[in-house]
Amino acid sequence: MAFTVAIDGPAAAGKGTISRAVADKFGFAHLDTGLLYRATGRRTLDGTDPMEAARLLTPEDLQADGLRTPDVAQAASRVAAIPEVRAALVDFQRAFARRNGGAVLDGRDIGTVICPDAEVKLFVTASDEVRAKRRLDELLGKGHETDFETVLCDLQTRDARDSARATAPLKSAEDAVMLDTTRMSIEEAVAAACAEVVRKQAL
Ligand code: DC
Repeated sequence: MAFTVAIDGPAAAGKGTISRAVADKFGFAHLDTGLLYRATGRRTLDGTDPMEAARLLTPEDLQADGLRTPDVAQAASRVAAIPEVRAALVDFQRAFARRNGGAVLDGRDIGTVICPDAEVKLFVTASDEVRAKRRLDELLGKGHETDFETVLCDLQTRDARDSARATAPLKSAEDAVMLDTTRMSIEEAVAAACAEVVRKQAL
């Protein structure tokens, strides 16, 4: 049976951590849809046309190293504003969402455009400063040389572009449950997300 959990929100709000934990707990498959845009964006860095890049995507591209760099994140946000690129990625995401056994998808437009009928919709946020600090720690941990101001500016630029685009902008679905993780531990945020899944499964 299909059961879809849609998790949206701005960059570095905790969507990935929460999605993986929910998928683990309930035995659902997980798709980080940002990887589709990152892999597409990365292909454009060598001059490939964005639409061609989206069409050429293979499952191996999503496993590739080097998708979690600041350059690729910005390239992802830029290609994500192109309606034809988004259109090329819709069918794959919808098929993944309706697979048997349940699926968690995280991104920007899952609850609004990709899966408007998702059984569970969460919109995960945190203050800009907390998100920047979390992303900074992640990047430093991976050996990137960067600082708080650079990361904060990077996130804010991306969020502004992702929110302002005409097609499938970053925004909460009207029926999404808001989860502000600013003052939450990972465990608390995961527990809140899991509680919402349990509540909807019981309906
Ligand atoms: O979730 P992320 O930071 O890996 O996403 C990278 C970029 O991809 C993000 O800035 C906007 C875009 N994106 C999108 O437009 N729609 C999605 N469902 C997921 C990501």
